[in-house]
Amino acid sequence: MYDQFILRKTTLSFLLSVASFAFAVIACKELGPAAPREDQLLDGPVAGLTPSQSARHLAGDIAFNDEIFTPETGLGPVFVANSCGSCHPGDGKGHPFTTLIRFGHTDSLGQNEFDHGFQIQNRAIPGYEPEELPKGTPFAKFTPPSNSGLGYLELVSDEDILGMAAANAKNPDGVRGHPNWNLLPGYVTPRPNSRRQGNRYITRFGKKGSVYNLFHQTVVAYNQDMGITSTFDPSDVYTLKSIDPEVSDRKVRDVVFYLQTLKAPIQAQP
Ligand code: HEC
Repeated sequence: MYDQFILRKTTLSFLLSVASFAFAVIACKELGPAAPREDQLLDGPVAGLTPSQSARHLAGDIAFNDEIFTPETGLGPVFVANSCGSCHPGDGKGHPFTTLIRFGHTDSLGQNEFDHGFQIQNRAIPGYEPEELPKGTPFAKFTPPSNSGLGYLELVSDEDILGMAAANAKNPDGVRGHPNWNLLPGYVTPRPNSRRQGNRYITRFGKKGSVYNLFHQTVVAYNQDMGITSTFDPSDVYTLKSIDPEVSDRKVRDVVFYLQTLKAPIQAQP
């Protein structure tokens, strides 16, 4: 009788553990996120690259994601982060710890009030003071956006942008797109067929679409986000004096090629 009881008890607890294991497996399947499908990944090249283009994409990938700058390789002296990938992880969005702070930099007469540009470099290498937000200045925090599929945006013509703006110019709901016309730095060559208004061109990347192309964005990111000078923008972020390049032209162009050839994730169909 006692033996039978023990046996029953063991069988019962065995059955219970089998059941709870099965439940756990099912629950994990139901609750855990499935691995994303290949066509939903942000990181990866567009299809159809030649072997030499693939090699270039890979070189840009390494420079973007794996190269961590140090004081020895030119970081700073003041900076925000030490690699492109630390702010754009997996070519995706950043998070609250990787925001950039920009501040208003003109006085009531439209004059630039500050010597050191308009972005706070809130970190510094040993021996230097990180920058602080000037008191009472209006500022905004920017979260890094995803970087995938931007090569497609670069190929949209100015004509199409103007066409889209014209098409919704009379939108009764008041939601309208306005092209941003800007001056370009000397190292940026406008595309053939670019539209102009005086010296200004339509810019399209970055916040408020204020950057002309991916090359322009990359040069500014090296300089302003990491304190890395190039022949394109040799100005040291701390002294504002020209110094020797800390990243090669080739590497900058490889990163641009990498951005241009990052695939666009397939959007879910509504
Ligand atoms: C400190 C964080 C940080 C670092 C480091 C950084 N970025 Fe960014 N990036 C941002 C933020 C924030 C934005 C959005 C604001 C802006 O336009 O500048 C942005 C915007 C961009 C955009 C425009 C995306 C769009 O949709 O228009 C590109 C391209 C880009 N970054 C590439 C790079 C590259 C290449 C590097 C390295 C050379 C880099 N970033 C380093 C934070 C960062």
